[in-house]
Amino acid sequence: MKKAAVIGYPIAQSLSPVIHNHWFEQNGIEGNYEAIEVVPEELGMAVERLKTEGYSGFNVTVPHKTDIIKYLDKVAPLARQMGAVNTVKIAEDGTLSGFNTDGIGLVKHLKDIVPEYPKDKPALIIGAGGAARAAALGLVNENLPMVMITNRTRGKAEAIAGDVGRGRMTVVDWKTRAQAVAAAGLIVNTTVLGMAGQPALELSLDHAASDTVVYDIVYKPLETELLKDAGERGLKTVDGLGMLVHQGAAAFKIWFGVEVGFDADLRKTLEAKIT
Ligand code: ATR
Repeated sequence: MKKAAVIGYPIAQSLSPVIHNHWFEQNGIEGNYEAIEVVPEELGMAVERLKTEGYSGFNVTVPHKTDIIKYLDKVAPLARQMGAVNTVKIAEDGTLSGFNTDGIGLVKHLKDIVPEYPKDKPALIIGAGGAARAAALGLVNENLPMVMITNRTRGKAEAIAGDVGRGRMTVVDWKTRAQAVAAAGLIVNTTVLGMAGQPALELSLDHAASDTVVYDIVYKPLETELLKDAGERGLKTVDGLGMLVHQGAAAFKIWFGVEVGFDADLRKTLEAKIT
């Protein structure tokens, strides 16, 4: 029996068990993936328990993505660069290795849905939290002319550009984001704005070019106000569900060596859970 889990706090809303258990079943693997609530004070104890109870590995979500690093024996370069780990592999001898599959998930999904997205124009990342850092790391490797980033708190955007930009990122002031929209071939919202219970993202698409792709990493609701607005203007849109699934697929590969993907059945199951 293969075992994996996601640890976080809160965790009840996590869709990861649905995703990974779908893949177990699909591949005829006898396995179980569960969501485990772990409060910050008990992170060390939880890691010990997962190690001794035969888990192949686990995902790590808010608020543990950075704190987990001190319990790990090895951290992959990409995760080290992000300062955050979302996937831990437990080797047979108990060695713990940390990875970050968030950025890979974002770009993989983008290429699946709109392989022809404009590559001759800069991309624009909105926000400067952990998800923005993942998006930046994914996008700076895509050979775009530039990756722009804008955030309400400018300093956080500067930190990301400095840490992972490799000279290919530029910070745009939050007040002038409308101009960046006009220049961008790809716009990625990495903030929580637009998520159920949060205010909408205030981003005018009035000056967006007709071939601009708008990507929202929010997946609850699937169609955020931003994507609805983009769709009504005839722009191509990408919702946040794929990023979630692809970061999971990369974790599944790390733990079990099996290549999995985002099939129509899985999308249907997840959509039913969200709405
Ligand atoms: P995560 O790590 O999950 O990406 P986070 O670190 O909480 O989340 O980051 C949330 C992002 O949403 C930040 O970029 C934040 O902007 P600040 O850095 O200025 O806080 C952005 N955000 C949250 N509420 C916002 C609002 N009302 N207006 C503009 N940006 C907002």
